[in-house]
Amino acid sequence: MTHQEIKKIIKECREETKIEFTDKGSFFSPRFKSINHIEVGRSKIISSPITIILEFFYVVFKDLRNLFQKLQHFLFPRGEKCFGKNRNSTIKGRVTFAMKNGHAKPIHHMNIEFWARTWRLQWKKLGEGITDDEGYYGIDYDRSVAKGIFVLNLRMEVYQTSHIYFKDGKSTAHFTLFEKKWVRKDQLRSDSFMLENFRLDYWEYRADYPAPRVLIKDREKDAPQYYSQARQDALAQQFIPYELTKAKHLELIWLNSHKINLGTIQDDYPLNLSRCIEQKLPGYTRSDSYFGNRQMNGMNRSSFLPDPEKAGHFLVNYFGACQYETNEIYALPGAQIQFKLDEEGLPSPVKITLTGRLTALEKDPWKKRTFTPEDGEAWMQAKRIARVTGSFSTEVDDHFSGTHLNTEQYAIAAFRNLRLNPIANLLLPHLKEVVLINHTADKILLKDFLSNATALTEKGLISRTKDLLGVQDWKGFKPMSPISTAHEVAKADHLFWKITQDYVNEFIDSNLDEIKNFWLEIYRFSEDLLEHSVPVYLADVDLEKLSPELKDQSKERLHYYQFKYGFVPDLKRERINGELKAVSPITTNKGNEEISQEDIQNLKDSCVYMIFVATYLHTWINEHQYDELGELLFNGVGLRYGDGENGLMAPESDLRIAPAPQQATEMLWFVNLLSRTEFGFITRNEEGDVNPVFSKMLMENKEAFLKLDVEVENIESRTNI
Ligand SMILES: [Fe+2]
Repeated sequence: MTHQEIKKIIKECREETKIEFTDKGSFFSPRFKSINHIEVGRSKIISSPITIILEFFYVVFKDLRNLFQKLQHFLFPRGEKCFGKNRNSTIKGRVTFAMKNGHAKPIHHMNIEFWARTWRLQWKKLGEGITDDEGYYGIDYDRSVAKGIFVLNLRMEVYQTSHIYFKDGKSTAHFTLFEKKWVRKDQLRSDSFMLENFRLDYWEYRADYPAPRVLIKDREKDAPQYYSQARQDALAQQFIPYELTKAKHLELIWLNSHKINLGTIQDDYPLNLSRCIEQKLPGYTRSDSYFGNRQMNGMNRSSFLPDPEKAGHFLVNYFGACQYETNEIYALPGAQIQFKLDEEGLPSPVKITLTGRLTALEKDPWKKRTFTPEDGEAWMQAKRIARVTGSFSTEVDDHFSGTHLNTEQYAIAAFRNLRLNPIANLLLPHLKEVVLINHTADKILLKDFLSNATALTEKGLISRTKDLLGVQDWKGFKPMSPISTAHEVAKADHLFWKITQDYVNEFIDSNLDEIKNFWLEIYRFSEDLLEHSVPVYLADVDLEKLSPELKDQSKERLHYYQFKYGFVPDLKRERINGELKAVSPITTNKGNEEISQEDIQNLKDSCVYMIFVATYLHTWINEHQYDELGELLFNGVGLRYGDGENGLMAPESDLRIAPAPQQATEMLWFVNLLSRTEFGFITRNEEGDVNPVFSKMLMENKEAFLKLDVEVENIESRTNI
């Protein structure tokens, strides 16, 4: 069978395994409360009729409350007009972030409004303003109106940008109230009054994670942003079938039922790509051809490093447990795969080298074993081990660290600082919601799932994410270069990158005056990024003090990661508090000097990078997860040592090394949840927050993307699952 015929089957199966939900359920269908209630164990799902009725009344109550608020707004509208003719009194104050290490950073360019409420509950705006570069504001108002007999109370309000909307090609920011302070009438004794400072817990950084993360004390009431109702509804509708399947399995496992095994678990979840192909072309998914094909153009989107020792050959490295904290149940050897290209330019594996323990009794973490296709059954087993280490590495290193956490660091800095600068309109729609899904991932992914389904503990996983962020930087990044005509993922990367570059360049050039006018925001954005960036991977480690094996492995990792993530080590990077920071500064100009060409170029390059990572790159990995990880015995994120003499070197039929039933159902649930419940696409623009120019540019290239197996309508506008 030719590659073209096989490609056709793969395409058919991708179509066939697409999941679409048309069933909207009935009144008594089970439902769940929100994304915040998803759990790897039992999510807070509502299935009892009594609870459903109670929930129904609660929803009615919430609707009534909303209606009441709307009615209040209708009866007591807040007009744009400011009241008072003699606005010669001033109320002043300052807005800062909450105090940290004895210092409160100013919050620039926040909208401030001063309001009076009358005894008839009507609102009267007395004045408005905006905080200056140092967070100070001064609002002129008419004191006689403020102290008038009809005024019941007074309050100062601080607003945050909550959404960006595009209408008729123009962007508009939507503001919501963030904080308020009551002002007593008797305080306004003179023409000038200084109100107590606002110290806001506004997009604060966490102190308990070794990488930049936002602080969320209460995700229901105190999050820096919230999912839209449409996003919640879409997930609720798509999520329930998987949740019910998992709930049934957990119940049967708890009952110790003989009805539950890996086969029944597998059959209860929808067909995935590898199982579909296996039905049409038995044996093909275990072949060298499929292995190479998926490594290149599947979820892993592997990076093929030219083999320095063998011309025309390439190396793909997946690093295993390394020195991270591990449990004793799962193995995670490192896997290096050597490939050559076949006549169609697809990679064919010629050698696999596994490093590390393959049985529970072995103690040597440096033991190397090499396999080739001549090794028969052992070659098949080595391929499976390499496949699993590859999936683990793609999930933790590329997906969670490289896209989710990488985007979060830009999101926090952007939402803290970008307001009046047009760059806010360019970036914020692509950076929203990532902190919310990452907050959920802390618990359900790192704490509850991966630490029980892979070799690494939660501590080990967190430490690995920090190291991986240490090789992610916008500066110098270029998408991967195609190594052959069959390297579709690299070609698609270039196409998306080029379109994004054109879009960003055009946007920045046509808004240049305003961008320069509010350059301080770019400076502070860059300053926050830098200050909180993790150190460059291994920059603070003296390699000479390591054991020879660890030194070699560290160098190999550093070299491969630099190649894989396009990290340029020779760039001049900043050192803060002794740490060499991984993220490069965008500008060191506060806006009081001439903005240089280099500053503008840095801004363009960094924006292209952020949009590329948060949208296209994340979508690629996310949507292919079920393709690769939806078949339990074929692939996964962890293999157990088991108690067999050869440990991992065993056939797929040896269930001692396969995941236990609980982790098996949780894994299939997880990959279905992540791959199949996406919402918020660039071209569909469900929430009207994506610049239509960008959508149009992508749609104009729809056919070119399709040739590379990318459906442009499926590229998400932000990282939110
Ligand atoms: Fe994701």
